[in-house]
Amino acid sequence: MTVRVGIIGTGVMGADHARTLATCVAGARVAAVFDVDTERAEEVAAGVSGAVAHADPMDLVGAADVDAVLVASSDATHEEFVLACLDAAKPVLCEKPLAPTVEGCRRILKAEQALGRRMVTVGFMRRYDEWYVGMRNLLEAGEIGSPLLLHCVHRNPSGPPGLPSQTLVTGSAVHEIDVARWLLGDEIAWVSCHRPRRSALVPGETQDPQFLVFETYGGVVVDVEVFANSGYGYDVRCELVGEQGTVSIGSPTGPITRRGGRESRTVAADWRERFAGAYRAELRDWVDHIEAGRPPAGASSWDGYVATAVAEACLGATPGGARTRVPLDPRPDLYG
Ligand SMILES: NC(=O)c1ccc[n+]([C@@H]2O[C@H](COP(=O)([O-])OP(=O)(O)OC[C@H]3O[C@@H](n4cnc5c(N)ncnc54)[C@H](O)[C@@H]3O)[C@@H](O)[C@H]2O)c1
Repeated sequence: MTVRVGIIGTGVMGADHARTLATCVAGARVAAVFDVDTERAEEVAAGVSGAVAHADPMDLVGAADVDAVLVASSDATHEEFVLACLDAAKPVLCEKPLAPTVEGCRRILKAEQALGRRMVTVGFMRRYDEWYVGMRNLLEAGEIGSPLLLHCVHRNPSGPPGLPSQTLVTGSAVHEIDVARWLLGDEIAWVSCHRPRRSALVPGETQDPQFLVFETYGGVVVDVEVFANSGYGYDVRCELVGEQGTVSIGSPTGPITRRGGRESRTVAADWRERFAGAYRAELRDWVDHIEAGRPPAGASSWDGYVATAVAEACLGATPGGARTRVPLDPRPDLYG
């Protein structure tokens, strides 16, 4: 069986996923695309054999030749499209965040439970990155003993002008929130947030960088630096400290140049370069599971809901103030 995928949102991520599905994922075909920017949609459709650009996103969701939908439109639109996919009982891979508000995530969870089976995957692709997987395997094998601390860094070269301060949390740190839960197998119970001096080089009012601290129920402390305008490249790092050792993930290094008394290497330009392998593995796994008629793999809508709940608690925390509890609903049976 070939899984015929419809893509909603053909910006940076949607176009990249379309290319990956068309060239690297056996058993998948991009059948349809939609974007409010019709030129973008047509450009992506033209680059993929057999894909058509739809004029209405709901026509794409309902189309007989679309078996599954990938939502890669702007964050605020995710809920509407995921709900439409659930209404049509079609598997959907939604880019993170599942929805930028807890209320939006709850509506998705409710619709999925009404359907009685898991249909939603959230694009937390670091769960497919070989280094993160390696780190988790080492921890599970007891190689570094019980975890104590997790230090995370998430830097981008530059953010769009006027980037809302909260997007650093709901759009960037949300990856670290998911990674922390997934790596540690533990829920985040408390959060606190810190606002260092704003970088004078960032235009507008964006609070950049930001520093977050989480504490899990098991007592592990996680710190996260998010810096959208680091000015030098895309740099995602993480160090897990255990009772008997540590595991670190740095930026992948290209060739090292030594010249004129200096040593240098290249830093990734953006997430597509750093996580290309993870996106491929994520899409392959998603398609394999649909082909085999199995429940979706990857992060569930429950994981999406928890990530947004933690992000929302961070936004509600007083900067530099006391730690804030993360309120979580009881986990429905559907999510194990
Ligand atoms: N997993 C990751 O590593 C990762 C990385 C970057 C972005 N993202 C997420 O992917 C999504 C897309 O991000 P991007 O970087 O491609 O942004 P982008 O701005 O390049 O693309 C977003 C696209 O959505 C379209 N769009 C907006 N409203 C729409 C609507 N109502 N219907 C259809 N299309 C609509 C825009 O026209 C645009 O083409 C976002 O949710 C973002 O948070 C995930």
